Amino acid sequence: MSTGGKPRILLMHPILEPGPTILAEAAEVITYPPDRPLDGESIKQAAEGCVGIVSQLMDPIRETVLSIPDLKIVSNVAVGFDNIDVAAATAHKVMVTNTPGVLDDATADFAFTLLMATARRIVEADNFNRQGHFKGWAIDMMLGVDVFGATLGLIGVGRIGRGVAHRAKGFNMRVLYYDPHPLPPDAEQQLGATRVDLGRLLAESDFVSVHVPLTDETHHLLSTAQFGQMKPSAILINTSRGPVIDEAALVEALKAKKVAGAGLDVYEREPSVHPGLIPMSNVILAPHIASATTRTRSEMSAMAARNMATAIRGGRPPNLLNPEVKK
Ligand code: GLV
Repeated sequence: MSTGGKPRILLMHPILEPGPTILAEAAEVITYPPDRPLDGESIKQAAEGCVGIVSQLMDPIRETVLSIPDLKIVSNVAVGFDNIDVAAATAHKVMVTNTPGVLDDATADFAFTLLMATARRIVEADNFNRQGHFKGWAIDMMLGVDVFGATLGLIGVGRIGRGVAHRAKGFNMRVLYYDPHPLPPDAEQQLGATRVDLGRLLAESDFVSVHVPLTDETHHLLSTAQFGQMKPSAILINTSRGPVIDEAALVEALKAKKVAGAGLDVYEREPSVHPGLIPMSNVILAPHIASATTRTRSEMSAMAARNMATAIRGGRPPNLLNPEVKK
């Protein structure tokens, strides 16, 4: 449907330039009221008559929304798309797109930031200093663990996992990885990464960093049994999706000192953080900002807007996740 000749689309949340400019050239853009709840019924009502929705990872885009008669495309401003029922979209002939590639470096940088910050207790140390506890240099003050030369276990070696392995080379780390899809031998050699099973990765790693998408297979991939296999000195990093980790089990493992610390950017029930994590000084709790650099978020916005504009002009969007919809 359209007014003034342009098809109408729903922008669920603000995006960065040049995204809005690209969208405005192609469509009449209506925006989702910021105070409206993010549930299927509310989104469906707001999107009625729209051919496209520009969504973000907190928007549940499932059957209720995907059955809107005129809907042609959902453009997600994220690489992850677990908030969208792609099978239902395909059944309703709705295209789904995401923003792969542009956020790999920012996210790999951030995984490494969390790793180093947790290892060297930087948030705790900053708080200690601000609170006036720094009374002079002491031999045993804020002791952390070494990163240089340590063993890093990567769960998932897609683009972001490989980016973390690349950075780990500069820290002379031994890199183990677990992934159902082995890297080509030349990539393994170039990254100095060795494929192992999950048990061995957990048993041998000083740092375990998670880089898998959230699927039925990866839901609670790390729970009580897996934490029990980790070194008690190990640190867990998660910049992927919260539900890959059983958060309640992580809290118990941290309390029982089966895991030494964690650097988390994502949570099982965002934006809620498990209350058990809040008082833990050995845990860093970032608010899902791994891709949050100005350049990256602007490129994600542009990419999502281009996917939308291409689709509503009748073309095949570059980052189409369900190509069977657009033969
Ligand atoms: C962020 O989490 C993304 O999937 O892009």
